[in-house]
Amino acid sequence: MLRKISKIRVSAALAAYVASTSLLGCSAGTGAEEVGSSSDALLGDALPGTDSATFAEARANFAEVENVADGIGPIFNANACGTCHQNGALGGAGQQIEARYGTLIGGVFNGLPNTGGSLRQLFGIGGFNLGGLNCNSGVDANPAPGATIFAGRLTTPLFGLGLVDSLPDSAFDTLASREPTAIRGVVNRFAIALPNPLDPSQHVGSVRVARFGWKANVPTLAQFSGDAYVNEMGITTSSCIAGSPNLAFATENRANRAPSNALINGCPDDAVPGIDDDFAAETGCTGVNANVLQDDVRNFTFFMAHLAPPPQSAIAVGSAEDRGRTLFNSAALACNGCHRSDSDVFRSTSAGGVTAGIVFAPFSDFLAHDMGTLGDQIGINDGDSVAATRRMRTAPLWGLHSRNKLLHDGRTTDRGAAILAHAGQGAAASAAYNALGTSSKSDLLAYLNTL
Ligand code: HEC
Ligand code: HEC
Repeated sequence: MLRKISKIRVSAALAAYVASTSLLGCSAGTGAEEVGSSSDALLGDALPGTDSATFAEARANFAEVENVADGIGPIFNANACGTCHQNGALGGAGQQIEARYGTLIGGVFNGLPNTGGSLRQLFGIGGFNLGGLNCNSGVDANPAPGATIFAGRLTTPLFGLGLVDSLPDSAFDTLASREPTAIRGVVNRFAIALPNPLDPSQHVGSVRVARFGWKANVPTLAQFSGDAYVNEMGITTSSCIAGSPNLAFATENRANRAPSNALINGCPDDAVPGIDDDFAAETGCTGVNANVLQDDVRNFTFFMAHLAPPPQSAIAVGSAEDRGRTLFNSAALACNGCHRSDSDVFRSTSAGGVTAGIVFAPFSDFLAHDMGTLGDQIGINDGDSVAATRRMRTAPLWGLHSRNKLLHDGRTTDRGAAILAHAGQGAAASAAYNALGTSSKSDLLAYLNTL
């Protein structure tokens, strides 16, 4: 077991950069769409009221490259959160496309957990020497035996997600109730595996609206942090929740799902046997450590929770962008039916430690929609129906100006092509866009570029 202590090195330049970032100002917005946006905030800035030293430390942890001695592996996708989340600014979308796979057995989804699915780890640490023993991590078979469904997953941007994490479940029910039945999204609810101790409404096993991920299947940012640390980087952790050890993300993924923590030919799973950072065992989960996330997981969560929403450009009355906005919200296209910015709903609470009352416009409902042929056919759980595998979360359009690859598998950089790919509940919007004349199409795309 290895405890990583004080590995945060904050450079003076970084600290100065973070300290100098401006707070969100009030832009002279012309409509509700612009509330909470600003032309002087920069992508990657912290929310107003965020302690700059804590943010700088958390940010540095998010960017920090980890190695085998830190517990990377046995199998993994990358060596830092920031390796993938970096377009536009740290915390952004990425170029990496991950691999998901599975199959249908008896007409329902099976993620082939016994061959390492449904998320493939692309790399293994390979050979490592432990106590004179030559060991090897191996790597997942590719393709996995039995896989018939293969899907790519683009890295999503994280800006503004602390505000989304702070919303009560009722916000999402309200959004669903406002959607016409033809396009109404499904409110996914899942049990919390790792709650955020800063939000007293979250408990292990209590159900919360799952608002994160392409499939809307993760209920809290804290949980996504622990999950990504083990599933993307192979670093296992334990945390302390309500006085008890939380081992939700304490088990390594071994290549091809060989037994975790077992010795194989005398070799453990990787060069750091056991839990890579066993915060619960180290602290005993008592006193000030009774209700605390493992330190890296806590830093990742803090960094993400305090990233400000992407700035949106001001729109001049009568401009192409203004005409595009009218089209976006028109009854014919109804892009705002799913890509929503209801200013009475998108209003932060203090849950999770962010400032309450910040109004924001994410251009999403964070609900799962049947997207027909655009759906990735990957279930959230084994046993999901084929219809459920077509469901995708409405991609938030805030920050679109800083993005290149689009859609869940990053198949295109062309905004128009991304719209035309909408099928299922998005088919009417796609057809209405297709029917527009050339100049109206370009107005709509000009508007999207202000987000
Ligand atoms: C190998 C690339 C990679 C690395 C490394 C990585 N991520 Fe991600 N991240 C992704 C991908 C791909 C997705 C979309 C996953 C999905 O929804 O299936 C994602 C999604 C997320 C989301 C959900 C955001 C949303 O839109 O709802 C959060 C939160 C997140 N990552 C946090 C982290 C943290 C914290 C780390 C470091 C511990 C990390 N990620 C490391 C690729 C990566
Ligand atoms: C029925 C709900 C729905 C409607 C209506 C809808 N969208 Fe979407 N949109 C989605 C979903 C879901 C995704 C993510 C799909 C995927 O990648 O699998 C998405 C993705 C996008 C993307 C890509 C964003 C990214 O991060 O990759 C753009 C751009 C977009 N929509 C624009 C529009 C526009 C413009 C309209 C109106 C013409 C529209 N959408 C109407 C649900 C909808």
